[in-house]
Amino acid sequence: VSAPAIVFIGFMGAGKSTALRIAGDSFDQVWDADDWIERHVGMSIADYFAEFGEEAFRKEEAALASKLLRDAAGGVVALGGGAVVAESIRKELTDHIVVWLQVDAETAWERVSDSDRPLAKDRAEFDALFAERQALYESLADAVIPQGDPDIVAGALPWIRALADLPPGTKMIWATSDSGEYPIVIGRGILESNWWPLEGRQFYVCDENTRRYYADPMQPIAKPIVVEAGETAKTMQTATQVLEALANQEMTREDYLVALGGGVVGDLAGFCAHVYQRGVPVVQVPTTLVAQVDSAYGGKTGVDLPEGKNYAGAYHLPAAVIADTSTLATLPREELAAGFVEALKTGLLAGGGLWERVRAIESLDPTGLDDVVFACARYKCEVVAADERDAGLRQALNLGHTVGHAIEAASGYERYRHGEAIGLGLLAALRLSGAAELRDEVEEILARHGLPTSLDPAVEIEPTLAALQRDKKRTAAGVGFILLPEPGVPQVGQLVDPAKVRAAVEELYR
Ligand SMILES: NC(=O)c1ccc[n+]([C@@H]2O[C@H](COP(=O)([O-])OP(=O)(O)OC[C@H]3O[C@@H](n4cnc5c(N)ncnc54)[C@H](O)[C@@H]3O)[C@@H](O)[C@H]2O)c1
Repeated sequence: VSAPAIVFIGFMGAGKSTALRIAGDSFDQVWDADDWIERHVGMSIADYFAEFGEEAFRKEEAALASKLLRDAAGGVVALGGGAVVAESIRKELTDHIVVWLQVDAETAWERVSDSDRPLAKDRAEFDALFAERQALYESLADAVIPQGDPDIVAGALPWIRALADLPPGTKMIWATSDSGEYPIVIGRGILESNWWPLEGRQFYVCDENTRRYYADPMQPIAKPIVVEAGETAKTMQTATQVLEALANQEMTREDYLVALGGGVVGDLAGFCAHVYQRGVPVVQVPTTLVAQVDSAYGGKTGVDLPEGKNYAGAYHLPAAVIADTSTLATLPREELAAGFVEALKTGLLAGGGLWERVRAIESLDPTGLDDVVFACARYKCEVVAADERDAGLRQALNLGHTVGHAIEAASGYERYRHGEAIGLGLLAALRLSGAAELRDEVEEILARHGLPTSLDPAVEIEPTLAALQRDKKRTAAGVGFILLPEPGVPQVGQLVDPAKVRAAVEELYR
């Protein structure tokens, strides 16, 4: 096809017709596949189902919708919820930009249960079908946006259209949460393609390494502000330097800041963007695996204090995240491994297909992780959408971080990379969860990727336990741990007997 069409897919009730209506305004050719099929067969889909049954309908749908997609170049299409089951339709979709309108089962049911839809009569069957279809939608999606809310579709549309000009395989997520929404673009070779979607003057922060490798294509208007590489740059002192540099470069609130680097640059620059003139937009351009699977999304920013990890910070959602996975190629092997721990953590939390994918990785190849980056980003965005400010579910993302952060703080942020400390923290958390077998497997996975599985005796236990007591998740009742009895089932805010905590940390010295 000459120009791809934009094709909305998703479960019944996801808002495909609404999305079609909104997007349709800016396209000449607009097709609702269900309407088109109804016109061709000369009756409503409900009547067709009643008369000929589902199997006959699916055959008819496969033939008609495939033909529609072959002729849809440059237009916009909404497909019926079950259309993607047909292989012939899935094949046609590879030529188009496929937008999955994601909806939760509850909302979908509320929207369709009193319609005449033949597959929305029985709640249990509906839920089973819903669960079955998710993986299919996910595997086809180039863009994922939360349900067909008119404003969201209108906001996301330019970014969806941009996918046509981006390197093949680039994907988009429209992230939403209580305080805002923003696009995430994940692909290979985005920086080199010279695509830059934002208007306005850009100022930016990078570190010594990301300046060396990636500063040039970014064409900032002012000299990049370069901080030293590594966790030791995540301090109030460095934040002050960055803020003063921005003031000297005469950045205004009409401009925006770009954070080009790993989690350290992202957290630091995000924090500076939050406080500079009471807030300027920040675009995260993550260049490490940690940042691409986790830290660039969700708006947590901050710096460390000698007293505690991430002890000064703010929520500041990015204006956009642009993750170019080709940057992982220059990442030192140890950094890639450390980043893998955040993906491992996400796999453990998500369970299901993501856990299977992550546990099966035999060796880390920076060119083979794009699907993992995308899936982890999606998982994180889903969690943040449900609980932006850490009231419950989002705390689960801190699996392994209670002990991990304590190790970082007790060792002066220098002995271990963040991911390495979190790997040790995962082992402690799984011991406290009573998940002995899973702990063994995670230990084996860490070892496989050259990650530490035991704690350097130079990091003493008493300061580590003391740092643990200062964890930000501490309430009057004590430090709330995140436990994980099995993949996919996190439990937040769990108080644990201090003797058990000591034993789980002691075990790390073996
Ligand atoms: N905000 C959040 O939600 C969140 C989540 C997870 C982690 N974090 C934070 O992220 C930080 C860890 O992030 P990190 O592991 O990315 O550390 P980092 O930013 O220090 O990067 C690691 C190293 O890789 C170098 N580097 C970065 N990109 C490179 C590239 N493409 N090629 C070559 N070298 C490159 C850096 O210069 C640095 O030396 C921690 O401070 C952690 O607390 C924050």
